Amino acid sequence: MRAGHASRTARWVAGLRAAAAGLSGARAAARDDVALSLLPRRVAALARRVRRGGTPGYLALDALTLGLTSDVVLRTLRLDDVVTAGVVRGVRQIVLLGAGYDARAYRMEGVEQATFFEVDFPDTQADKRARLAGHAARAREVRHVGVDFLTQTIDAALLDAGLDRGAPSVFLWEGVTMYLPPDARRATIAAVARCAAPGSDLALTYSRREDVSRPLLGFAHLASHAIGEPLDGYVTRAQLWRELDGEGFEEIEDSQGPDWARRYWPTAPRLLDPVWERIAIARARSPLG
Ligand SMILES: C[S@@+](CC[C@H](N)C(=O)[O-])C[C@H]1O[C@@H](n2cnc3c(N)ncnc32)[C@H](O)[C@@H]1O
Repeated sequence: MRAGHASRTARWVAGLRAAAAGLSGARAAARDDVALSLLPRRVAALARRVRRGGTPGYLALDALTLGLTSDVVLRTLRLDDVVTAGVVRGVRQIVLLGAGYDARAYRMEGVEQATFFEVDFPDTQADKRARLAGHAARAREVRHVGVDFLTQTIDAALLDAGLDRGAPSVFLWEGVTMYLPPDARRATIAAVARCAAPGSDLALTYSRREDVSRPLLGFAHLASHAIGEPLDGYVTRAQLWRELDGEGFEEIEDSQGPDWARRYWPTAPRLLDPVWERIAIARARSPLG
């Protein structure tokens, strides 16, 4: 991340969600209508143009992005469900790590009793807050926590912001680990573990090198370095689960785009299988076993 700049990748993925929101038949959770108002003018105009194109416009965007559009839209559905399942079982703290332009606190039903902690790079967060002016949260409260995952661990900052580590939380870490070096990923997992009461969930997306085709790997490497958000944080499934297990998390699920499509939106228009990343869902074990 570059000091003084909001995350471009965060804008783009919010743009993909905004573009998908116009699809007829879109599942409620895929209709991220708040996203459009959080985008810079040019990205919002592109999203509007895709929406005017209906399903063919959406499919063209999906093809141009090599399936990343479907991947982002479907991962959002899966992670929305993690939040919903959490609040249904009484969780009242939702922590968004690398929140970007995530609008869950503003668009999701059922979160009225929950406090959201939005953790992000301070410049991305400042830009989002400026654009959010006038949007009322559906959540009980939204607290903003500015951190750099490369130089800070998040537990002290979250506790300062009022997170109760004696009560369970849902932590979402969506579309971020692939931008972090292994040390920063491990340090953040350890920090989450330190403030996750037993029964807390951590749901994160991660990318395996083998899921990205070789020519694309090179392109992604160059383009992401050029914008200051290097995509170098690939990790194997076995390695990630070793790290989670070592910090006291047990596996609940490890899934990928086609699984999310089957479960949430089998008729979603798409040309390619969305396999850019996986979602790992882990639960903090009780210290007694
Ligand atoms: C691709 S965006 C994903 C945003 C959001 N979670 C979503 O899915 O829409 C990556 C996010 O990670 C944040 N991020 C990347 N590197 C970071 C760092 N070193 N410290 C804090 N945040 C970081 C960016 O500010 C951005 O919000």
